[in-house]
Amino acid sequence: MLQALAAEVTYPNGTLALSATTLSIEPGSFTVLLGPSGAGKSTLLRSFNGLVRLTGGRIESATGDIAGKKQLRAHRRQTGMIFQQHHLIGRLSVLSNVLTGRLAFHSPLKTLFGFSHAEKELALRAIDRVGLLKEALRRVDELSGGQQQRVGIARALVQSPEIILADEPVASLDPATSDHVLSLLHGICQSDGLTAVVSLHQIEFAKKFAGRIVGLHAGKVVFDGPPSQLDENAVAAIYGNIVPASGRLPRRVPIQNIPPIGVAS
Ligand SMILES: Nc1ncnc2c1ncn2[C@@H]1O[C@H](COP(=O)(O)OP(=O)(O)OP(=O)(O)O)[C@@H](O)[C@H]1O
Ligand SMILES: [Mg+2]
Repeated sequence: MLQALAAEVTYPNGTLALSATTLSIEPGSFTVLLGPSGAGKSTLLRSFNGLVRLTGGRIESATGDIAGKKQLRAHRRQTGMIFQQHHLIGRLSVLSNVLTGRLAFHSPLKTLFGFSHAEKELALRAIDRVGLLKEALRRVDELSGGQQQRVGIARALVQSPEIILADEPVASLDPATSDHVLSLLHGICQSDGLTAVVSLHQIEFAKKFAGRIVGLHAGKVVFDGPPSQLDENAVAAIYGNIVPASGRLPRRVPIQNIPPIGVAS
């Protein structure tokens, strides 16, 4: 269970990044937050993991209201986070980076004694699932962007999470690699029954992978439905007159209704 209840975020500089928003994320669903730059995708996504402080409302997970310290710690343990910039340590191996996903389960004393055999096995299994077993001992700064994001996915999986939160996981990748990485992430979430909330700005990918699309504009939910309902009006509501990532302008008016240039209407 993951719910935002009248969740609101105003940053200290006065920017209202998220107007009071109520959303219930179904267990096992794959939800895409879609919107242009500045719409509030990261703010909403990060608030689902307590990385952004709410200025109103609350976030409830299976562990309770995550405003509570204990509840937040338990929630974070069951929640894998994937970032656009990977947040990996370049000079460390794939295996070492993936193992950092286990740190939330360690006491400082346990960390001192290193990772257990079982944890290393878990990490290798996660690395295998993202197709990087042969690269397990390579430094991550020697890998391509797509491979690095697969390491990011493996690091989230090694937590054995219930929930995956991914903030623009493919924003810095080319379209073919993005498709590959999203297919991998989507496939794993489906087969493991994970609840995923993924922010994207590409309409095509949202339509291809989402079970549900939540469209944001200026900190407000302006669309909430399956990809089949994301029509021109919905795209226009989300993007306004901003050119979406597909490169096509949203059309409010069917082309045939626009008079030719020079013809008075
Ligand atoms: N730490 C911050 N302090 C002040 N304002 C912020 C902060 N982080 C984000 N904002 C503002 O809040 C609004 C929403 O930002 P947010 O990063 O959530 O949007 P986004 O949809 O993720 O955009 P992008 O696609 O560029 O990542 C924007 O107006 C942004 O400038
Ligand atoms: Mg963002």
